[in-house]
Amino acid sequence: MRTRPLKVALLGCGVVGSEVARIMTTHAGDLAARIGAPVELAGVAVRRPDKVREGIDPALVTTDATALVKRGDLDIVVEVIGGIEPARTLITTALEHGASVVSANKALLAQDGAALHAAAEKHGRDLYYEAAVAGAIPLIRPLRESLAGDKVNRVLGIVNGTTNFILDKMDTTGAGYQEALDEATALGYAEADPTADVEGFDAAAKAAILAGIAFHTRVRLDDVHREGMTEVTAGDFASAREMGCTIKLLAICERAEDGASVTARVHPAMIPLSHPLASVRGAYNAVFVESDAAGQLMFYGPGAGGAPTASAVLGDLVAVGRNRLSGATGPGESAYAALPVSPMGEVVTRYHISLDVADKPGVLAQVATVFAEHGVSIDTVRQQGKDGEASLVVVTHRASDAALGGTVEALRKLDTVRGVASIMRVEGE
Ligand SMILES: NC(=O)c1ccc[n+]([C@@H]2O[C@H](COP(=O)([O-])OP(=O)(O)OC[C@H]3O[C@@H](n4cnc5c(N)ncnc54)[C@H](OP(=O)(O)O)[C@@H]3O)[C@@H](O)[C@H]2O)c1
Repeated sequence: MRTRPLKVALLGCGVVGSEVARIMTTHAGDLAARIGAPVELAGVAVRRPDKVREGIDPALVTTDATALVKRGDLDIVVEVIGGIEPARTLITTALEHGASVVSANKALLAQDGAALHAAAEKHGRDLYYEAAVAGAIPLIRPLRESLAGDKVNRVLGIVNGTTNFILDKMDTTGAGYQEALDEATALGYAEADPTADVEGFDAAAKAAILAGIAFHTRVRLDDVHREGMTEVTAGDFASAREMGCTIKLLAICERAEDGASVTARVHPAMIPLSHPLASVRGAYNAVFVESDAAGQLMFYGPGAGGAPTASAVLGDLVAVGRNRLSGATGPGESAYAALPVSPMGEVVTRYHISLDVADKPGVLAQVATVFAEHGVSIDTVRQQGKDGEASLVVVTHRASDAALGGTVEALRKLDTVRGVASIMRVEGE
């Protein structure tokens, strides 16, 4: 084993960074044996230098992250600050000054992954980010390396623990959205401002990263269709149960049937209770991958939290450390397929639509005609009448999102349709 240590700088020492530092110390011997050289914490950049940080030598702490990454003697920079800036500039500067980078920053990678990969390649350094998607769950490496000989057709996942916790609460207790969110906040599963989670931004960033790797194509955050889950009601769960389904916020990355394009989207969807993703409870994450040769694979585990996320960061640290010692670099960006990313209108799936209609003869026929006129074939219809009003639940066969959108627009114009109570996609069948 080499005695000269690999120098590691930590940018950020919060929920994830403090756990990375702790495990680097407590597992120092094992990490050294696995890498082939000891790792030394060479500096820790934070915002508040006076905060007490257990196990961290105060002499290593600095607020000048830029000076730290410019030192020139660093082997690996671990970026766990989060957000776009200063993380982006710090990562780029670290690469320019000869360090390889390990990051957990999904927002940055989804927005600027291509430029960061290009910088890593230009300087002959590694950029690893296993922790950026689904915390502890190995996903990036399996997609990038283990499945590199296969053809991935679909990635379907629960990649946000906060929203899964809320939806699971609504499902199991009958609670409404706000009540379930309040409980998630009280238990620390939701942040004070839950927008990034409940509006699907966090999941969309992860979908962009997963789609890019799975399909060897650049997929940016802007390419991902995103709908949040704040409109999901207890009534939607009741409808889902009647269909033998539950509701999950899903990230769905798909190759079109003809293989010529891909799509990436995040939205709430009904999935059958028999689907493995239906049994993912609480704040857990799971990702279901379908590929030509391997068939169906599922990756399951804690998608967040300090120690679980640090586990993924340290896995990258070991891999990057080994590369450093052998003078090699690991796989970089693979975007050779360069498939076009299709808009949401071209996505084909099934739909569950709840309509409030007048309870009189001919309404059903009128509604069915609108579906037929837009080329959307109906699978089942259920009608319940009460006091001259009725609710009509239509489940369609597979249709394009554009065709469904046209159908709904036309339905809203019918005198006999009082309102469209809910529209939900049905996935995983
Ligand atoms: N938390 C999770 O469960 C989780 C899971 C997966 C991925 N991630 C990702 O991991 C990253 C870090 O998340 P986190 O939860 O650990 O965040 P956090 O607890 O808010 O920690 C952020 C750290 O960055 C430091 N920092 C902020 N601005 C800085 C600046 N301008 N210069 C230097 N240091 C700065 C903070 O310093 P102070 O300590 O002085 O405030 C803090 O130590 C994010 O990209 C996040 O998306 C987190």
